Amino acid sequence: MTRIGMDLNSFILEQERLYPNATGSLSRALVAIESATKVIASHVRMAGLADILGMAGKKNIQGEEVKKLDELSNNLLIQYLSQSGEFFALASEELDEPIFPEEGKDAKYVIAFDPLDGSSNIDVNISIGTIFSIHRRVNSDVSDFLQEGYKQVAAGYVIYGSSTMLVLSTGNGVNGFTLDPAVGMYLLSHPNMKIPEKGKIYSINESNDKKWIDAGLKEYIESLKDEGYTSRYIGSMVADVHRTLIKGGIFAYPADVKNKNGKLRLLYEASPMAFLTVQAGGMATTGKEDILNIKPTDIHQRVPVFLGGKYEMEKLKSMLKNG
Ligand code: AHG
Ligand code: MN
Ligand code: MN
Ligand code: MN
Repeated sequence: MTRIGMDLNSFILEQERLYPNATGSLSRALVAIESATKVIASHVRMAGLADILGMAGKKNIQGEEVKKLDELSNNLLIQYLSQSGEFFALASEELDEPIFPEEGKDAKYVIAFDPLDGSSNIDVNISIGTIFSIHRRVNSDVSDFLQEGYKQVAAGYVIYGSSTMLVLSTGNGVNGFTLDPAVGMYLLSHPNMKIPEKGKIYSINESNDKKWIDAGLKEYIESLKDEGYTSRYIGSMVADVHRTLIKGGIFAYPADVKNKNGKLRLLYEASPMAFLTVQAGGMATTGKEDILNIKPTDIHQRVPVFLGGKYEMEKLKSMLKNG
């Protein structure tokens, strides 16, 4: 039986018992993520003291300046996930092309991840995170990453905030675990997370409002203000979505004239966060279609993102003009 305070490994094993045919492969895959993120968390905690703040001195495939912690997190995940032998392929925001680890040639899963989300907040000591999305291996090539989001076997994130938390769904609801730094274990602290049907917060980079493409969006935000909503925007998707899951409301990164498809990446950000939101009872859309129904065409593709509770999302759908 799941109970507050149980550790993530016991939880994973318990979930596995629900599936009589389970081989333990997904459990070991999740444990590899768990280990990698614990090591990342300890580096994040030391960032101001160890020499890991600042730029790595290069650009990634997204056209962004790479931070040292982006690179360190990416390397740690590649190392742990490859060595686990549970992944046939790895795709990362920070890698031009997927990696097919030697140890994973018989593995059942592929994983896409954003090793360090919220890079711009690293140097100013604000919450950052790691996001991951697991699909089944089907064709044994790069097309395994181009499966719809609703086919995710598991998705989750780790938030390196005032505490470190791992939030996970294997398609059976959402559970949150807090890292107890004294014992080095993730302990169940937020069982069966549900997004409130109606919240009080909207989260969007409002400085872009003149560039938003959909003419209905500004009106929508104004109408939320009229209803008494307040604004919160951290600029780390993990942190903004984490707050949205717990307190409700809406998080959005819409299309604008500069970012015609929005800014967030479908595989590493939009799809796993949509999976978690829907599993928590909320909704996630690009404004035109459900994020989980999109069949990706490119591993680095971007999509507009709107996710949140039922009330805010229904209202959004009724106000967007899709123009
Ligand atoms: P990353 O640090 O992984 O590149 O992601 C940054 C993303 C996301 O975390 C956040 O929601 C968004 O960028 C913020 O963008 P703006 O600064 O344009 O608001
Ligand atoms: Mn980036
Ligand atoms: Mn990101
Ligand atoms: Mn990132």
